[in-house]
Amino acid sequence: MSSSKTSSKPKLRSAEWFGTADKNGFMYRSWMKNQGIPDHEFQGKPIIGICNTWSELTPCNAHFRKIADHVKKGVLEAGGYPVEFPVFSNGESNLRPTAMFTRNLASMDVEEAIRGNPIDAVVLLVGCDKTTPALLMGAASCDIPTIVVTGGPMLNGKQEGRDIGSGTVVWRLSEEVKAGKISMHDFMAAEAGMSRSAGTCNTMGTASTMACMAESLGVSLPHNAAIPAVDSRRYVLAHLSGNRIVEMVDEDLRLSKVLTRGAFENAIRTNAAIGGSTNAVIHLKAIAGRIGVDLALDDWTRIGRGTPTLVDLQPSGRFLMEEFYYAGGLPAVLRRLGEADRLPNKDALTVNGKTLWDNVVEAPQYNDEVIRPLDNPLVEDGGMCVLHGNLAPKGAVLKPSAATPELMTHRGRAVVFEDFDDYKARINDPDLDVDADSVLVMKHCGPRGYHGMAEVGNMGLPAKLLEQGVTDMVRISDARMSGTAYGTVVLHVAPEAAAGGPLAAVRNGDWVELDAYAGKLHLDIDDEELQARLAEHDPTQASRQIASSGGYRQLYIEHVLQADEGCDFDFLVGCRGADVPRHSH
Ligand code: FES
Repeated sequence: MSSSKTSSKPKLRSAEWFGTADKNGFMYRSWMKNQGIPDHEFQGKPIIGICNTWSELTPCNAHFRKIADHVKKGVLEAGGYPVEFPVFSNGESNLRPTAMFTRNLASMDVEEAIRGNPIDAVVLLVGCDKTTPALLMGAASCDIPTIVVTGGPMLNGKQEGRDIGSGTVVWRLSEEVKAGKISMHDFMAAEAGMSRSAGTCNTMGTASTMACMAESLGVSLPHNAAIPAVDSRRYVLAHLSGNRIVEMVDEDLRLSKVLTRGAFENAIRTNAAIGGSTNAVIHLKAIAGRIGVDLALDDWTRIGRGTPTLVDLQPSGRFLMEEFYYAGGLPAVLRRLGEADRLPNKDALTVNGKTLWDNVVEAPQYNDEVIRPLDNPLVEDGGMCVLHGNLAPKGAVLKPSAATPELMTHRGRAVVFEDFDDYKARINDPDLDVDADSVLVMKHCGPRGYHGMAEVGNMGLPAKLLEQGVTDMVRISDARMSGTAYGTVVLHVAPEAAAGGPLAAVRNGDWVELDAYAGKLHLDIDDEELQARLAEHDPTQASRQIASSGGYRQLYIEHVLQADEGCDFDFLVGCRGADVPRHSH
């Protein structure tokens, strides 16, 4: 028996459209009938929206029409009526300047589509990185029964008989080309082998991370995160999700009953255990803000630190999402955490009506190399490092599982790039004054500086150092980093340079101190000097120029919040509910 059952069924939202014997009801029903739908199919039944991010320009989500078909079968079987609708699909691979620029735009699309239409519940079809947070943010602002179905990861990439991981191999091979270790021909040959099936990136990049976040938050059925896109069990899960969402309408199991503070704490702990993407820090904050849960950047330290990374997946480790699923997937990880008393809120409710712990307590685990035991973790302490100091008054983050342990505490001289263009122009200059102990600093790549906070924080190393065998350096910026990337990389420095943050004041040759274990990021100049430097120029010039072109860019620049606040728009934070808007006829 579901723990969320109520004694009487709630009134259907959709009845406000289809349930009245008047002029308005006539119009709503009549136009639906032009699709050949008889009365009994949609009257008095839960109408289930299937919010689809299908797009051929989002290759990771290009198989979603088929997933939607399976969700529909499940909805019909359970006595609901499915209606599929498109929303803006912000895919990571093609969209410029970055899919993050349009995450909030997509969330607005989702929110208004849900609120304005005759639907009683919604199934969110998500996959590529930003589609998961965008759809969850929009749905959270409405708070109707909601379930997430992810598209699933691609099969393992293959190159010359070896497994290669989405994105991660690109970073590695491009550095090997620069270092003269492989030819450009070999580099190009890896393209087709890396992406050889439908699905999202097969590493523990941002897409897989956000799928795991959704599952650990309890907004999807168990195993949603890891079943490969082309595995028939993905379609079974879609069908079962269609079954379940109809029941959720009867139970009035709205998103706010699942997305509790406890659920977010579980997700933070999970992120450490899977070696998840730094992007999750921003997205969870934005989702929490929409549903009214107070989540601070320092919660990642308080809740996440001390948690071992158990999942040995690229970019932190060796394997890929296929092996993760075959090893037992996220339920096996959650069981290991729970048995070691590392799952903070076992009683958090999930969309199937059971608690998170009920769902995983008997989860099988098949491979100790892929999902490692707590006494033999990949990284002893994989919790996200949150850094503070005069260089990041509102914080910055570093992912320890992707970093070089010897560089976690480091003091070096800054080599400064004013923006990404400056970096590209000079990084491979043979005369660049840089050595292995230098700290690469890049400015103006934050939410406003690069309108979208590009994933360029893992700056490629100078060619002359790669040729010497250097494989990692401390890098600091206000940018983000792809979840598929790695290195000792300090990201999300807040406030960003373009918002007047101290990052704007760093100059070549300054000493910079990082102590990731102690959560410290320090620019070794006194405060008077720091303020004098900041007063010398207007850091907002670049973003004002972006805004001057008008359109969505202007809206974005004027309203985007800083990284520590989740980069949502200030006017979108909060839950506005799903009260039925007045009709227009
Ligand atoms: Fe879409 Fe990686 S680019 S999931």
